[in-house]
Amino acid sequence: MGLSEALQGAINEQVKNEVYSAHLYLAMSAQCEAENLPGMAHWLRIQFMEEWGHALKLFDYVNERGGRAEIRAIDQPPARFGSPLELFQEVAAHEARVTAMINDLYALAAKENDYAAQIMLQWFITEQVEEEKSAGEIVDQLKMIGDNAVALLMLDRELGARVAEPGMGPMPATGESDA
Ligand SMILES: [Fe+2]
Repeated sequence: MGLSEALQGAINEQVKNEVYSAHLYLAMSAQCEAENLPGMAHWLRIQFMEEWGHALKLFDYVNERGGRAEIRAIDQPPARFGSPLELFQEVAAHEARVTAMINDLYALAAKENDYAAQIMLQWFITEQVEEEKSAGEIVDQLKMIGDNAVALLMLDRELGARVAEPGMGPMPATGESDA
């Protein structure tokens, strides 16, 4: 069974949204680099690569189902994000918006009785729980840190140790499926 036109359009739109997320996090990474917070910059750069991985996962899925993946125009992300706390609050808010988008996609797949697409989207639903959790933890820690520069540098060092998930970069191995 091929993808319905509506579902194909909605998944293509989500490819765009995932690439926007990637660009947003890379823009945030640039600010952290400029502010000498290399650990946060590194964490956001991995986030950037993961979002590219999400976009490709959806892109590949449209093709797998015999549909036609489309590349749509990406909005320019902001260039300034305020304090580190404000920046990570925006990460958390953005991930909450993405969760709502994924939920809408799932609802559409369910409405159309597309069981295969629902299974594919379950991976994203699980991923969003993780994304919201990790962003929320960093926000909470930054609130505890307040104006304490030493504590901020310690958190920065910790975030600098983040390791990329295998296969979630912009160029996962051909034929690989970690869904
Ligand atoms: Fe994503």
